[in-house]
Amino acid sequence: MSEQQKKIVYSALKPTGDLQLGNYIGALRNMVRMQEEHDCIYTIADMHSITVDCVPADLRRRTYEFMALFLAIGLDPQKSILFVQSHVHQHAELAWVLNCNTQFGEARRMTQFKDKSAKNPENVNVGLFAYPTLMAADILLYQADLVPIGKDQKQHLELARTVAERFNNRYSPTFVVPDGIFNTHGAKIQNLLDPSSKMGKTDDNTEGVIYLLDDRATIMRKFKRAVTDCGHEIVARQDKPGITNLLTIYSVIKGCTIKQAEAEFADKSYADFKLAVGEAVADHLEPIQAKYKELIADKAYLDQVMVEGAQKAARLADRTLAKVYRKVGFAQPKR
Ligand code: TYM
Repeated sequence: MSEQQKKIVYSALKPTGDLQLGNYIGALRNMVRMQEEHDCIYTIADMHSITVDCVPADLRRRTYEFMALFLAIGLDPQKSILFVQSHVHQHAELAWVLNCNTQFGEARRMTQFKDKSAKNPENVNVGLFAYPTLMAADILLYQADLVPIGKDQKQHLELARTVAERFNNRYSPTFVVPDGIFNTHGAKIQNLLDPSSKMGKTDDNTEGVIYLLDDRATIMRKFKRAVTDCGHEIVARQDKPGITNLLTIYSVIKGCTIKQAEAEFADKSYADFKLAVGEAVADHLEPIQAKYKELIADKAYLDQVMVEGAQKAARLADRTLAKVYRKVGFAQPKR
């Protein structure tokens, strides 16, 4: 692809809870794929993590685990910029300016804010409320064209677009207005024990969540227990959310279409099908887990990736922030 056609891609994952299959299918796989053709910038969003109760030692440990997993799945620091959000101070600074360009009512409408405040009423902090403007700052700092994410982040991306357009109209063109990149299927992987709700890192129902570091026996146990639906047909249909979810997982992991997966299991039982999905996932994760084990033992290398990534990111972020500060009228004395 020529330099001219190259797009800027941005995405981030928050180190709250351990990475799970939904993160992999909904976002990480696309992030790996996109680094072959575009200029990609990927972040571990630790500043987002402290919007909910969070044990400091766990956050620090997970930040390293996330970086090791990023590398193990194939994100490459030679191709992409990989860094930790709190290492680039421009994120917090742009977020403040964006807070002043976001309406209270817009932030209040965010369904994740409503869900999280309902789930944890004793800690509805201002950071949780301003979560989407920090996310907008992440994206807009790098003038990103494309943002590969799962469906649950769609509303936040819409807000980032609204705020970028508002700022561009109020001052003058400053930000690229980003587009979300969603999978045609797999943009929302459901909990195996409750196919009506999203598989999440912090689900209480951990038996329905496949973590990327689960061993084979655990993966097989969880798939064997996965909730299925009435009847015995293995087809993707609205009235079959459990089977549809399993078919989605299988087809994404095997790189086939849903139709092909349906044909492959046409005369199989639910039990056989669940075993096959479990095996496909365990086989797929095995080499990633082996690579992860090597990487997590090499803290000096992970430090180096983080430091170099933050330096590269800060250079880009600074350009946008300087422009924004000038436009909003902050004095810029000669130094
Ligand atoms: P997070 O850490 O909750 O999730 C990371 C990515 O995984 C996707 N995802 C899923 N996709 C399909 N099925 C699922 N069950 C599933 N669960 C999670 C999410 O949609 C996301 O793409 N606020 C963000 C992190 C963030 C960010 C950003 C993302 C901070 N700044 C800027 C993009 C751009 C979050 O908490 O994602």
